[in-house]
Amino acid sequence: MAQDPLIVFTPSGRRGRFPAGTPVLQAARSLGVDIDSVCGGRGLCGRCQIRLSTGEFSKHGIVSRGENLSAANQVEARYDDKRGIRAGQRLSCQARILGDLAIDVPRESQVHKQVVRKRAEARDIEIDPAIRLHYIEVEQPDMHNPSGDMERVMKALHEQWEIDGLECDLRVLQVLQKVLRDGDWKITVAVHRGQVLTTAWPGFHDQAYGVAVDVGSTTIAAHLCKLATGEVVASAGIMNPQIRFGEDLMSRVSYVMMNPGGEVELTAAVREAIDTLFQEVAAEAGIDKDDILNATFVGNPIMHHLLLGIDPTELGGAPFALAANSGLTFWASEIELSELNRGARVYVLPCIAGHVGADTAGVILSESPHLSDEIVLVVDVGTNAEILLGDKQRLLACSSPTGPAFEGAQISCGQRAAPGAIERVRIDPETLEPRYKVIGCDLWSDQEGFDAATEATGVTGVCGSGIIEVLAEMYLSGILMSDGTIDGAMAARSGRVRPDGRTFSYLLRAGEPELCIQQNDVRAIQLAKAALYAGARLLMDRLGIENLDRIVLAGAFGSHIDTKYAMVLGMIPDCDLAKVSAAGNAAGTGAIIALLNQSARDEIAQVIRRVEKIETAVEPRFQEHFIAAMGLPHTSEPFARLAAAVALPAPKTGGAEARGDNGGRRRRRNRNS
Ligand code: FES
Repeated sequence: MAQDPLIVFTPSGRRGRFPAGTPVLQAARSLGVDIDSVCGGRGLCGRCQIRLSTGEFSKHGIVSRGENLSAANQVEARYDDKRGIRAGQRLSCQARILGDLAIDVPRESQVHKQVVRKRAEARDIEIDPAIRLHYIEVEQPDMHNPSGDMERVMKALHEQWEIDGLECDLRVLQVLQKVLRDGDWKITVAVHRGQVLTTAWPGFHDQAYGVAVDVGSTTIAAHLCKLATGEVVASAGIMNPQIRFGEDLMSRVSYVMMNPGGEVELTAAVREAIDTLFQEVAAEAGIDKDDILNATFVGNPIMHHLLLGIDPTELGGAPFALAANSGLTFWASEIELSELNRGARVYVLPCIAGHVGADTAGVILSESPHLSDEIVLVVDVGTNAEILLGDKQRLLACSSPTGPAFEGAQISCGQRAAPGAIERVRIDPETLEPRYKVIGCDLWSDQEGFDAATEATGVTGVCGSGIIEVLAEMYLSGILMSDGTIDGAMAARSGRVRPDGRTFSYLLRAGEPELCIQQNDVRAIQLAKAALYAGARLLMDRLGIENLDRIVLAGAFGSHIDTKYAMVLGMIPDCDLAKVSAAGNAAGTGAIIALLNQSARDEIAQVIRRVEKIETAVEPRFQEHFIAAMGLPHTSEPFARLAAAVALPAPKTGGAEARGDNGGRRRRRNRNS
């Protein structure tokens, strides 16, 4: 007796024999081949497209020919007419097996397709969203066999999708009867994590979006993603309106402490801003807010609590107790967000400790230190620095009180990163003359056309990355001594080194405004960088290591720092410069990963359980490391790997004066990030 046709699917390599006439999608399903579908094989969604691979597949002993697949039918012709089938492809729910076949499932048709990330060290994202859409045809009510509409919806989901045990939320039940009748008993439902029916639409519906939100203390950023493909279709940012209650986080907590009920105002402000962002991203992408079905959030512990309407007072002092440190899932309406579907589900990533929040959980998802073979240090540089250290065996975390100096605050000529701010600096070691670049202009200041090109913005100040560079260049050119003192002896070589009271300053830019680096500016950066280094070093002690394999600088600021200059200043421990990279906004990327891949939510829940949390404030060695880290790049560490790559000046110090007016003092913990 002739055998049934053999079918082989690529790239999975799965194969099996099926009777002639079997739809390709059905064969794929029974072999466990990953092909997407929303309509359940009715030729409505177009997600199930496949390609015939023709030729001889000697490994499988088959010859795959066009005539072994049924010709396109009317359903395919109709779909092609309306929405278009990609060239050379077929709807696998319609195409039937007639003989031996090799079938290729293109990336777009795979359920668990990968979103490839550009950075070599970054893990790709597997698309597996928490929300799935299912089209169903529901039996009409029958007086002789009475059953509820919801029960018949559940029956259809069981029969047509093999989905069982779903809960139906009241908000769906309230509209279900109308949706069923409007759709003539054909509806599409959204199911959250295979457990809860969250939304229903009449007829066929295949638009599903989610928003990943990074709630920072200064800015809030949202990325709107198409859940089926992982594509980021719109992004927007907004200033956190809580700033009017206090510039940094501690002052916002103080506001709550001093104004009973103040947390309600702070919560309302942040939620309103998030709704505004949702409106913006939906408008930019041209989608209906009802198609936003899921949202994920990251933020530091105080932002996390305020978003959820939890009084953050407990986070304002020891023992810094979190209200909850697990990932949380609830309805968007429970946190009064209205610019998305009324059945939208929200997931907030877990916090790790009182100082290490859901933003750091996002960084872990993005940078995967817990899967690394190498020992990696991940530093999220913001107003506070969150630091992670470890590999797949152990992972440690702490936060370090760097203060806002890296962002340009507390610096006499400092400013936030904005057009007109100096972001790059070079100093000629012979003449001590500087040249610089400002945000918004590609020319260096000594290039022709610079003045004209910056006329609109002006040169207004120095942003965080510019401050790192100017100090590192001052050190490399001998203006700064190893202990951070501006060397007054250099005044003999250049008029740019000028007496300034009992100390000296360096004139970076003459004119209006005049931009000078003062001794106190250097001290502010020394304090911040010493706190950062000390936190990292403390974790290295705990792990019992002296050397790092790899360093990742995360955070919006981290992505603008030149890693070489960060190391010249000793912000981070010595490491092979080629193994130091910038990750951009890794916390925000983590929120996107949690949005697009539901198992990432389970993964992070597991990982944070084994993160060892170190509280820098109570570690006696922190202060020791902090003082030793005041020097450039460090008072006692040789920074041999850096020295092999960059010509570091011979050590010189200014003696007693080097400690300056505030050097060595422990900084107050500032909880911004
Ligand atoms: Fe929807 Fe084939 S499964 S068109």
